[in-house]
Amino acid sequence: MSEVIGTPFPTIGIMGGGQLGRMMALAAIRMGMAIKFLVPKQTGGTMGLGTTHVGDWTDPAVLNEFIDGCDVVTVESEWAPIEAVENLGTSIPCYPRSSTLSLIRDKGVQKTTLKEAGLPVPPFACCSSYTEALEYAQGSGFPVVVKRYKGSYDGYGNATAHSVEELKSAWSQLADDNGVLVEAWVPFTRELSVLVARTPEGDHVTYPVAYTEQKDHRCHAVEVPTVIAKATEQKAVEIGLGAVEAVDGIGLTAVELFELEDGSILVNELAPRPHNTGHYSIEACFTSQFENHIRGILNWPLGSPQLRVPCAVMVNILGHRSQQVESDSVRESLKTDDVSVHIYGKEETRPKRKMGHVTATGDTLTDVRQKAELAASTIIL
Ligand SMILES: Nc1ncnc2c1ncn2[C@@H]1O[C@H](COP(=O)(O)OP(=O)(O)OP(=O)(O)O)[C@@H](O)[C@H]1O
Ligand SMILES: [Mg+2]
Repeated sequence: MSEVIGTPFPTIGIMGGGQLGRMMALAAIRMGMAIKFLVPKQTGGTMGLGTTHVGDWTDPAVLNEFIDGCDVVTVESEWAPIEAVENLGTSIPCYPRSSTLSLIRDKGVQKTTLKEAGLPVPPFACCSSYTEALEYAQGSGFPVVVKRYKGSYDGYGNATAHSVEELKSAWSQLADDNGVLVEAWVPFTRELSVLVARTPEGDHVTYPVAYTEQKDHRCHAVEVPTVIAKATEQKAVEIGLGAVEAVDGIGLTAVELFELEDGSILVNELAPRPHNTGHYSIEACFTSQFENHIRGILNWPLGSPQLRVPCAVMVNILGHRSQQVESDSVRESLKTDDVSVHIYGKEETRPKRKMGHVTATGDTLTDVRQKAELAASTIIL
């Protein structure tokens, strides 16, 4: 009789197989866990990391096969339908909960929730008709930022309108049956992020405030520590934690913030999952955002989010062309010292697609930034 091979360690079910699911899996595997992925289509990112189920992730038959043997189910994106797993009536815990995701998925509901919780957000209005949007923009003054309610990422789904004509065109591109979200344009001095890891019991840790730099509405680089005033940092952390508690985020939740000239802080938006602005934590913190996500959803003790290096800078590697990936330039980039190169295993590249990132660590931000930019620019995917 053959021996039953089992594992005394938890199996994590991850809905989604992009870079976030991949890096969650890498952290979990290091702690002796097993991974099951469920993806609508295979894209290469989960290769070698556990079992991958490919199928319709709203189909109960597919879901039942996926959850078989899982101890907990999580998502790598707010769009993954965790409610479909909850609706199976299983006793397997699902985090973040669908109730959290439904407060975050719709940008109008999200902003309203944060405002009602007393958190500082930019002035905004949920406009169900073009006339309402026009009235709001004229009242608050142009420019305004028009945002599609659902399905946006990396700035797709946003438009800055400087005039009535631009507002009209933004409305026609972005409005759904409920209209659009219209926000006052915020003259921020910096964009910051705060990451919070939280257990179902409400234990939590907060990561150092990170400075995040966008190019074309897309995250380009992230630096820690930030050079902001101590009092501003403390306020950012308080507001970040308040925002995560307002949606009952479990596992890792990221809070994108604006810092204004007078040092005040506004919440831009939340992401109920590990975030691009926390990738630096793999090399730079005692416990990475991915490991603390896994610990949080398991209700295990959270690890220290503190920096174990003086400085770290992460730079994203975006796709340059549309084709199969080639690795020559990746090998070249490995010649830069003090830099860790992360490639996400996506088989196909597209212009601006997130293909990987690099993190450099060291003593001064200027030096570390230079190394990270150099290594990232060497990689042409
Ligand atoms: N009200 C605003 N005023 C000024 N700039 C804004 C405003 N809202 C958004 N932005 C800019 O656009 C970027 C993207 O906006 P937002 O976070 O809403 O979009 P997204 O597509 O959900 O983003 P991502 O997936 O990159 O986080 C912000 O990081 C910021 O640089
Ligand atoms: Mg954003």
